[in-house]
Amino acid sequence: MAILAVDGRRRLSGETAVQGSKNATLPILAGTLLCADECIVHNCPDLSDVEASLSILRYLGCSASRDDGTLAVDTRGMVRSDIPEELMHRMRSSIIFLGALVARTGRARMSYPGGCELGPRPIDLHLSSLRRLGVEITDEHGELVCTAPEGLHGAGIALPFPSVGATENIMIAACTADGTTIISNAAREPEISDLADFLNACGAHIDGAGESTVMIDGVSRLHGAVHAIIPDRIVAATLLCAAAVTRSDITLRRVIPSHLSSIIPIFEQSGCEAEFCGSDLRFCAPYKLRSSKLIRTMPYPGFPTDAQAPMMSVAALCDGITVFVENMFESRYRHVGELCRLGANIRVEGKVAVVDGVRRLLSANVAAHDLRGAAALVVAALAAHGRSEISGIGYLERGYERFELVLSALGADIKKI
Ligand code: EPZ
Repeated sequence: MAILAVDGRRRLSGETAVQGSKNATLPILAGTLLCADECIVHNCPDLSDVEASLSILRYLGCSASRDDGTLAVDTRGMVRSDIPEELMHRMRSSIIFLGALVARTGRARMSYPGGCELGPRPIDLHLSSLRRLGVEITDEHGELVCTAPEGLHGAGIALPFPSVGATENIMIAACTADGTTIISNAAREPEISDLADFLNACGAHIDGAGESTVMIDGVSRLHGAVHAIIPDRIVAATLLCAAAVTRSDITLRRVIPSHLSSIIPIFEQSGCEAEFCGSDLRFCAPYKLRSSKLIRTMPYPGFPTDAQAPMMSVAALCDGITVFVENMFESRYRHVGELCRLGANIRVEGKVAVVDGVRRLLSANVAAHDLRGAAALVVAALAAHGRSEISGIGYLERGYERFELVLSALGADIKKI
């Protein structure tokens, strides 16, 4: 298995363009199932999760080809409506295909996505919402079997909390449902807005995406479209974490300022300077970081749970104590043990992690247990004295496109071996 070898304490410099968003790409690929002709999707990151989605589309009978960052997807050849266990388990978020499959074919069969590194990944909101749209769902020996004998119809759906995936599944399924669907307490993440922009470009009638109430007027069918994926705000945040812990001065290209509105203040409280110029972000870190005291993960526009782990590597080196409260997932501190092996001083009590900043981190051999935890270990290793080795980088490659090449181009001493 490949590992990453990092010789820490190299200052970063220069500029890099932020990759396209994984969490926008996945639901948009599911949405192509509704399209009567070819879709061209630009700025698609080259990630194992994206490859897993393309494998699902090809298994269903669709054609999907990649030319660098551009995907051409044609779902006219679709002949199946089931997703086999092996493909479901390659990517937990395959549940995002459920609404599209039923909307396109009137049926769907797939296994439960099962738990993942972040704890159980329940899908009760996905299922209860789709039932409201007219989907009949039964459990046959651990497999979800969905049918829509009378087709899908509009409904009012109030989500008990703003689930990103459930909001996406409802939006997709409601696009060609008979009538109007109103989602209350919808997730407001930028990836939801990007999905709505894509679906509307295909002829859907979606209003209010990005706000708490989203209205979808069903149309008879969707045509193809050309769409460019938004930049990945979590990858951007991770690169800023890498710059913060190495006292660096870098420029990120292709960022959307509003997507980082809950992240930049944390860095500024730590003594970093951030200056936007259009879609560029100039970022300078201080010699010594100050703690930002409290970081609570919240639904967008609050501090994103996906940035919690890499930001903890920054907090580990801040002067003072930083308290993290992880409100979104029940087990998202699996990187803490590994950060402590690198010399961090962190105590976890349930949802709360207390990080007492240390003067330096020391190299060690560490193992990643999930996607954003892997990113946190890379950030910490970039700051640690000496050479660290990071295993489990398959997790990193689910969400970060050639990350070691991006970092080494900025001056880091990091190699995949
Ligand atoms: C999306 O996951 C993202 N994944 C996650 O990013 C992200 O952490 C999460 O949203 C929150 O922002 C993709 O977009 C592919 P949720 P999702 O439904 O849709 C519980 C990454 O690192 N829940 O908003 O699964 C759930 O268990 C990944 O890129 C239910 O209880 O997030 C979790 O505790 C990790 N029932 C919380 O809600 C449901 O039916 C938030 O889940 C659905 C979710």
